[in-house]
Amino acid sequence: RALKNFEGGLLIVGTTQAGKGVMLNFIMTQAILRGDAVIFIDPKGSDRMYKAFCRACEKADRGKPLRFHPGNRSKTDGIRFDVTAVFSTGAQIATRVMSVVPGEDNVFKQFAWSCIKTFADAMIELGEKPSLKSLSQNINKGIEDLLRALILQAVKQHADTDWREQAEYFLPARRENCTDAIHELNVLVSWYENVLPTYLHTMVVGECLKIFHHSKEHYSKITATLMPIFAMLTSGPLEESLSPDPSDASDKRPIWDMESLVKCKGVLYVNLDSLSDSMIASAVGSMLLSDLTAYAGKRYNLGLNDVRISLYVDEASNVINQPLIELLNKGAEGGVYTTIAIQTVPDLAHRLGSVHAARMVLGNCNNLIALRCKDRETQDFVTETFGKTYIHNVDTTLSTHADTHLGMPSFKGGASHKRTAVREEIIPSEYLGKLPNAQFFASLGGGHLMKGRVPVIIDDEEN
Ligand SMILES: Nc1ncnc2c1ncn2[C@@H]1O[C@H](COP(=O)(O)OP(=O)(O)OP(=O)(O)O)[C@@H](O)[C@H]1O
Ligand SMILES: [Mg+2]
Repeated sequence: RALKNFEGGLLIVGTTQAGKGVMLNFIMTQAILRGDAVIFIDPKGSDRMYKAFCRACEKADRGKPLRFHPGNRSKTDGIRFDVTAVFSTGAQIATRVMSVVPGEDNVFKQFAWSCIKTFADAMIELGEKPSLKSLSQNINKGIEDLLRALILQAVKQHADTDWREQAEYFLPARRENCTDAIHELNVLVSWYENVLPTYLHTMVVGECLKIFHHSKEHYSKITATLMPIFAMLTSGPLEESLSPDPSDASDKRPIWDMESLVKCKGVLYVNLDSLSDSMIASAVGSMLLSDLTAYAGKRYNLGLNDVRISLYVDEASNVINQPLIELLNKGAEGGVYTTIAIQTVPDLAHRLGSVHAARMVLGNCNNLIALRCKDRETQDFVTETFGKTYIHNVDTTLSTHADTHLGMPSFKGGASHKRTAVREEIIPSEYLGKLPNAQFFASLGGGHLMKGRVPVIIDDEEN
């Protein structure tokens, strides 16, 4: 029953050095011992955490954990991770790529999304697996090649022998500056649009044609803004670690993807610290999270719930994105139990664009563990979550009175009790700022409150 409580996501807040790492270590170790598939995303990268990982795996007899540090150039250390391996439609891949662009949805993002989706769909239709690298190359080249290949496929299946003449009939006279390649494509497009019966038209080609007919200028503006995103995800060491090439014999690192990781109940530690740039680190984190979200969705649709996937995201303010929010909200249905650790609420608000958005995310976490927190906004959030209670107060008065001036002593006495109750915060915010390291208040399963201290799991070597 206790485990069931954590279905709705667990949030750990605490200022720096308050013990978030100790807490995560404690919970993560239990998950490994329990036999869950475990994914730990660590934007800061901590040796201590990785060691704790290894130790827990050893105790649980689960071999060495997988280690993914995408910024590392070594071709022997750690693993490569194919972030576009799990997909069923081009739309999912587009969502994954766009997940690295922080901020609200806007027209640009929607257009860029549909552009990536079209390219991915076209590649899938042609039997090519879209990787970040191949997608970026294709978008850079333009839709023409893919479109040509797709229509040629249709020509092979459906065209009459005189299809070329039929198509040219609909074409305006060839211009002088029109090269053979362009003319050939125009003929193909004309055949597809004018000769091929519409019931044989496909969505994929239709979408490609939309881009083909789209204003070249506008299209190049969109791709010009998309290119830096792809460049970020495919340059330097990321080229090999995120879009792995199985035929590259010089790279000894095994290739994993989300599906095989979960099916083998793998234990994966992702160290984003080795990436030189925090923006790239957050982009890679976002990609992994949206990959997991897509896979969780797939598992949910297939009705698979045999593996419990424990996801831990330290310093979540650095990598939180829409997919992670979705995982927090409904990941449990796909078997994903999410724990996120943040330092302060304003950090999260900064990443998400507004305090309102941050509050919405926090409000969706069913469980809260509050370590020491110093800033007002976080304290307010915590005290609000814990709620209020009646604090009773009893005033007792006793009085005696002796009167002697009439020569006859007279006594009076009285006793009164006054009981009042005021509604106060269960945990006054000033106490939150004074919690010693690794001590916490927790509100679990939406109302079960407790105060506790995390046991520090100590390395045998450290002593
Ligand atoms: N295995 C351990 N043995 C002994 N002390 C530890 C252990 N792990 C952490 N500590 C101590 O506990 C305290 C909290 O460290 P922790 O790494 O949990 O901080 P944190 O909340 O994650 O902070 P930050 O935001 O800087 O990452 C530190 O003083 C640290 O030295
Ligand atoms: Mg930490």
